[in-house]
Amino acid sequence: PQFSLQMEGGSGLERVDCRAKGGSPGFKVAILGAAGGIGQPLALLMKMNPLVSVLHLYDVVNTPGVTADISHMDTSAVVRGFLGQQQLEDALTGMDLVIIPAGVPRKPGMTRDDLFNINAGIVKTLCEGIAKCCPKAIVNIISNPVNSTVPIAAEVFKKAGTFDPKRLLGVTMLDVVRANTFVAEVLGLDPKEVDVPVVGGHAGVTILPLLSQVKPPCSFTQKEIDYLTDRIQNGGTEVVEAKAGAGSATLSMAFAAVKFADACLHALRGDANIVQCAYVASEVTELPFFASKVRLGRNGVEEVYPLGPLNEYERAGLEKAKKELAGSIQKGIAFVRK
Ligand code: NAI
Repeated sequence: PQFSLQMEGGSGLERVDCRAKGGSPGFKVAILGAAGGIGQPLALLMKMNPLVSVLHLYDVVNTPGVTADISHMDTSAVVRGFLGQQQLEDALTGMDLVIIPAGVPRKPGMTRDDLFNINAGIVKTLCEGIAKCCPKAIVNIISNPVNSTVPIAAEVFKKAGTFDPKRLLGVTMLDVVRANTFVAEVLGLDPKEVDVPVVGGHAGVTILPLLSQVKPPCSFTQKEIDYLTDRIQNGGTEVVEAKAGAGSATLSMAFAAVKFADACLHALRGDANIVQCAYVASEVTELPFFASKVRLGRNGVEEVYPLGPLNEYERAGLEKAKKELAGSIQKGIAFVRK
């Protein structure tokens, strides 16, 4: 990726940007919804990422303040802010990775699907911009309901003739982060030693932790399995209720989003063996989209891994998950085709 010598909002006194000369590898990343509860800590963490050379912060409100603030951090990435729809195309042009946490979050009593009416339109508009300005970018979708917003994005890209299933990823990383945390707690281990595959989708029963495949290998009592499955599936609701109307997970989500984006950037750079769970176009089940482990590479998703051996409990969970997922996928597709 090339560096721009122009720095927006500079004093005009800058000498030639020394970052342009070093030629260190750097990627251009845009965050859409950057002034929100997730967007702000996500912007902070991406500004700290040495693989990022340019960071574009786009929102419909408050980006000048967030951009000024983040731009004072003495890390390499050049930060630029973009405000409102008329600046969307500038925000997207030339981007290698686009992360989308734009949209409304849940309040107590709401399901992720209750957000559909508002967020579907937001994701559609933003993806139309991506199709036009950076059709080759890797896209990370965080906006809920992810089970439907990823199919929406795919339909928008298909309509524009730019759809590449390898480059569109729904972010389910927070489910994995939560699963690792809760399982580590039960096992008395450090969470960083624990790896729990979470497949299916990103809402309630569609979140399917595969506790039979936890690494390091271990076994659970039925009581532990029930507790862990329920807590992992309802971790989001636990936060929504604790925040009591002030939103949903933002800090742990920003952490998870950065963990996932960083994996995408390492893969883009050419690092080997980058494997994460994500909600992607898939042939692992009969559904067109499904979350499972995927191997990431220079082109995005290089390989979608099968689910592996499931026990009876997990097979029953899979049937429930698929039933709900099918409806959510259809709803997303119908929204764009209507
Ligand atoms: P928030 O309301 O704090 O921030 C959302 C931001 O999006 C706001 O700054 C808003 O101005 C902006 N926005 C609204 N319309 C926009 C548009 N057309 N273009 C660009 N930006 C726009 O919400 P929060 O807490 O940051 O959550 C954002 C989304 O992430 C929600 O849909 C939430 O459900 C989802 N989420 C997803 C998770 C996941 O695991 N995938 C976990 C937690 C939240």
